[in-house]
Amino acid sequence: MIVLNGKDLAKKIQNKIKEDVELLKKASITPGLAVIMIGDDPASQVYVKKKAEACKEAGIYSVVHEMPENIKEETIINTIKLMNENQNINGILVQLPLPPHINQTKILEAIDPKKDVDGFHPYNMGRLCLDLDSFVPCTPLGVMKIFEEYGIDVKGKDVCIVGASNIVGKPMAALLLNEFATVDICHIYTKDLKEHTKRADIIIVAVGKAGLITEDMVKDEAIVIDIGINRLENGKLAGDVDYDNVAHKCSHITPVPGGVGPMTIAMLLSNTIKATKLKTSE
Ligand code: GUN
Repeated sequence: MIVLNGKDLAKKIQNKIKEDVELLKKASITPGLAVIMIGDDPASQVYVKKKAEACKEAGIYSVVHEMPENIKEETIINTIKLMNENQNINGILVQLPLPPHINQTKILEAIDPKKDVDGFHPYNMGRLCLDLDSFVPCTPLGVMKIFEEYGIDVKGKDVCIVGASNIVGKPMAALLLNEFATVDICHIYTKDLKEHTKRADIIIVAVGKAGLITEDMVKDEAIVIDIGINRLENGKLAGDVDYDNVAHKCSHITPVPGGVGPMTIAMLLSNTIKATKLKTSE
């Protein structure tokens, strides 16, 4: 059984990005990322802090716009418009989830698609589905990088994705389909989850429910990718997979923490560099 070490791969990618940034800086270009964070959700605060720290470490300029929970939609959109126009900003990210009174679609559509480093704008999502060059959402992109690094060819494989969110499940399915995997997407209304997971060569789970994927749901020698991050009552972090009982059956598995999580951040930095280079080549 091989543990897919996203932490080390993310480090390797971030070191390469640091070199890219140094080269850009020699040409008087400093990549810039604007993060908009609304409310005080503790998990979002942790993610935003990690993103800002990673930017700093890589030499990328970053600014975090923190806004209160009761902010008006219009104020957020005006901030995005300012960032769209700001020449020092190459990437814009609005941390999700948003408070219920804010229309997420309106917010994401306000971002200039050329600065959409999260790849959540319908323009980029559409291009991804058509297998055209686009900004690709960071978490599924990170999973594809793990496959590449470990020589896992998804072509013709049966992949079961558990969780059909716009930020993970759907773009993950598009990326895999573009690489000719056979993709099965399960969600809360799936009648018999085990029936789907049990058949899969690769299981990718992003639900947010600790222990959802148990030993009996996984076939021997399967590849298991765990995108869940759950805080247990004892304070420890766990994924959606019952790792201790599932790992021995797998050919490859990602741990939590240290699997997909660090790759999400590395891909955000990578997308920010891509946006910077896109602008310089205009
Ligand atoms: N919330 C959970 N994951 C993400 C992500 O990748 N990007 C943003 N903006 N918000 C998130």
